[in-house]
Amino acid sequence: MRTFCVAVIVLSLLSVGQPAPLTCETLMKPRDTEGPDLTGRWFLLALSAEHCITTTVLDVLLRPIFVFDITSMDASNVYNNSIKITIDGHCLEQSKMFFYKDNQMFEVDSNNTALGNASLFLYSGCPDCIVVKRMDMIKALILISRRKVVTAAELVEFETQARCLGWSTPQVFKAEHASENCRSYHDIPRQEDEAIMQRIYRKVSEKATSMREKIRKCLIEFWVFVFNTVS
Ligand SMILES: *[C@@H]1O[C@H](CO)[C@@H](O)[C@H](O)[C@H]1NC(C)=O
Ligand SMILES: *[C@@H]1O[C@H](CO)[C@@H](O)[C@H](O)[C@H]1NC(C)=O
Ligand SMILES: *[C@@H]1O[C@H](CO)[C@@H](O)[C@H](O)[C@H]1NC(C)=O
Repeated sequence: MRTFCVAVIVLSLLSVGQPAPLTCETLMKPRDTEGPDLTGRWFLLALSAEHCITTTVLDVLLRPIFVFDITSMDASNVYNNSIKITIDGHCLEQSKMFFYKDNQMFEVDSNNTALGNASLFLYSGCPDCIVVKRMDMIKALILISRRKVVTAAELVEFETQARCLGWSTPQVFKAEHASENCRSYHDIPRQEDEAIMQRIYRKVSEKATSMREKIRKCLIEFWVFVFNTVS
């Protein structure tokens, strides 16, 4: 009797606590709701790529913190993305212009001419997130959010999306506001730049040493990927 009760409780907890898992078919669908307003600040929370090289490199590079500050430009549907990347406490800023409409975006040059392929926004169960599928040279699936932290269920959904594509296990990033004095690479005096680079280089080599096994595994996977692509 007691076993039965426990079983019933467990079963009812399972059925209440866990909505039916979404299929890859649903998770790979383009976002079908109205495109979100992109202006304002977004945090990069996780990234998966076609092969492990991208995520491994980001891991070796001390898992940079990415913040996107998006403003709209005079031309309609054209936006300015001020990308702030913080590595080891040092913040670098770089702006990119892009065109965005109907849950698709692509980079543009100063004449608003398209550069590269469109990125698509995919289905997401997370209300203030965007799942971006980049189809340029580096194919990647990116989870960005207005929030610095998403729930475990929201992260699992993103991991499932990456798995549906057969891409790498997502690299999860810490989210923090960028420092106020974030500078463009060109604005950093050369001497200061060299000192920063030396410090970062030392930490990066230590990280690479500690990740030797993971790097080795990824390189092998990468050779298999290249072999399958060319053969
Ligand atoms: C884009 O935004 C950045 C940061 O605010 C700014 O420095 C840059 O001049 C802007 N680019 C254009 C083309 O307006
Ligand atoms: C934009 O167009 C002008 C005039 O056609 C041209 O001189 C310039 O090189 C173009 N800029 C880019 C980035 O292609
Ligand atoms: C854009 O997409 C096409 C079709 O998927 C692909 O063949 C091409 O290599 C992509 N362009 C870049 C720059 O990756």
